[in-house]
Amino acid sequence: MTKLNHFSEIQAFIEKIMADNIIPGAPPLNSPHKAFWATLSYDAFCNGTVPGVKDPVTGNSLPILKKGDSKSSNIIMALRGEGPLFGPGGPFGQMPAGGVTKFTIEQVQAIADWIDAGCPQ
Ligand code: HEM
Repeated sequence: MTKLNHFSEIQAFIEKIMADNIIPGAPPLNSPHKAFWATLSYDAFCNGTVPGVKDPVTGNSLPILKKGDSKSSNIIMALRGEGPLFGPGGPFGQMPAGGVTKFTIEQVQAIADWIDAGCPQ
């Protein structure tokens, strides 16, 4: 199992999965949040909200993660396709949406473990 110890490793890990899993022939990706995992600072990623996305019910911005609590973290629920926003029938559905193969259970767990470890910088 991959162990991710630093934010830079999280960034490279997600970037590589995305690059490796584009489905040939799919239209270009057009996400409202762009590649926020690659472009945000450590502080903005760990303490901030997903750029360009609001909760369709409350209108509030959505935190990317909750340090030490992967189960309540939007990025993890998104990649697992769980919860009211990302689950089946939810307004967003599982991430990555569009023409990219989903992350494996082990890949999501590696990110979840880093969050549960308190997001070491
Ligand atoms: C590492 C985590 C994530 C990845 C890799 C990812 C990836 C993507 C991709 C590739 C698209 C484009 C779909 C297309 O072009 O058709 C997309 C769309 C979108 N993403 Fe994400 N996403 C992530 C996390 C999140 C989170 C945490 C939220 C909200 C809190 C979110 C909200 C959305 C929304 C609203 C859309 C547009 C609507 C849709 O296509 O469902 N994403 N995402």
